[in-house]
Amino acid sequence: MKYNFDEVIDRNHNRSSKYDERIKKFGTMDVIPLWVADMDFKTAQPIIDACEKKAKEGIWGYTSRPASYFEAVQGWEERRKGWKPDTELMSWSLGVVPTMSAIVKLFSEKGDKVMIQTPVYSEFYDVVEAWDREVVENQLVEEDGKWHIDFDDFERKAKECKIFLLCNPHNPLGIVWSKEELKKMADICIANDVLVVSDEIHSDLIFHDKKHTPTASISDEIKDKIVTCVSATKTFNLAGLQASTTIFPNMEMKKTFDRFWQKLEIHRNNAFSSVAMEAAYNEGEEWLEQLLTYIAGNFEYVIDYCAKYIPKIKPNRPDATYLMWLDCRELHMDDQELRKFFIEKAKLGLNEGYTFGRSLSGYMRLNVACPRATLEKALGQLKEAVDAL
Ligand SMILES: Cc1ncc(COP(=O)(O)O)c(C=O)c1O
Repeated sequence: MKYNFDEVIDRNHNRSSKYDERIKKFGTMDVIPLWVADMDFKTAQPIIDACEKKAKEGIWGYTSRPASYFEAVQGWEERRKGWKPDTELMSWSLGVVPTMSAIVKLFSEKGDKVMIQTPVYSEFYDVVEAWDREVVENQLVEEDGKWHIDFDDFERKAKECKIFLLCNPHNPLGIVWSKEELKKMADICIANDVLVVSDEIHSDLIFHDKKHTPTASISDEIKDKIVTCVSATKTFNLAGLQASTTIFPNMEMKKTFDRFWQKLEIHRNNAFSSVAMEAAYNEGEEWLEQLLTYIAGNFEYVIDYCAKYIPKIKPNRPDATYLMWLDCRELHMDDQELRKFFIEKAKLGLNEGYTFGRSLSGYMRLNVACPRATLEKALGQLKEAVDAL
């Protein structure tokens, strides 16, 4: 089946936080929303069919989680990433962020330090600070638009930390970490008894012939020390169904995690989420391949447009995610001026760079998982606003 990603879908009645929360986030509805990481595309037809079938059953009582769900996760990881995680060590949860929050709570103490690599998805700060743990930043270092890890700093800080939250691949920089980089980080963590939590939610969204390496697949020694978080929700635009899978290194940790959710009485999935996720993993590949081609085209469109018409704004070329990192430093605005400029002059709703790295200034994150026509309009507005400066 051929999917049409050019179709502009009106999401105004979609109960979408990306659209409905514009006032809350930007103080106005008059912006094109290109912020939170969900897509303006309909998901794959087999997922829609599976949910329709479930809807027509008309009974959505307390829901079981069949073995076929975990087998679908395993099959997907094996087929697409060459890694066969053990279904016995998998747990269901409501999402990767709730999972990471629970892990920080369960496997560290008040006052402990947790390392993150900034700029990074802002909830990495939140899930640490929520439990009165201290964030330790291993800042990624930029040189000529390329970002890399400062391993000396990483090693020094790992010695103080209890947990390392790894974003693999990386949001917002779109970096696909190499096997060597991952091994080096994991080895340092193991040597210093730091638990690694590998957030691999973006690992299906990979471009430019790069290859995602699941951190736990590197060696048996590393596998025994890593918690991996995966989900089909980013890949197939299902975030509203709230579902993810966590793969533990051992049964003891898995049981601790499962008990936590049981205590909160949040241990069942809603009736639609496992159905949708299973259909995605088993039947979604055709859609995903077409999506990746379309998003790669959007990356090039933004890069070409900015080079030609808005040279003061320099976008990266992400190898992962559908999020672009815009270097706006040549506009010479402070953070509040830049935020106001995007909202009030360009009429665009993006994420501010400083929310991903608190000491960073002059960057914005652009979500390009939208029809090309939306991007054309957005970039036209941005060009006009920059021209008027
Ligand atoms: C790196 C990363 N982890 C987790 C999430 C959200 O995960 P969930 O919706 O499963 O809580 C996002 C969403 O943007 C993300 O970018």
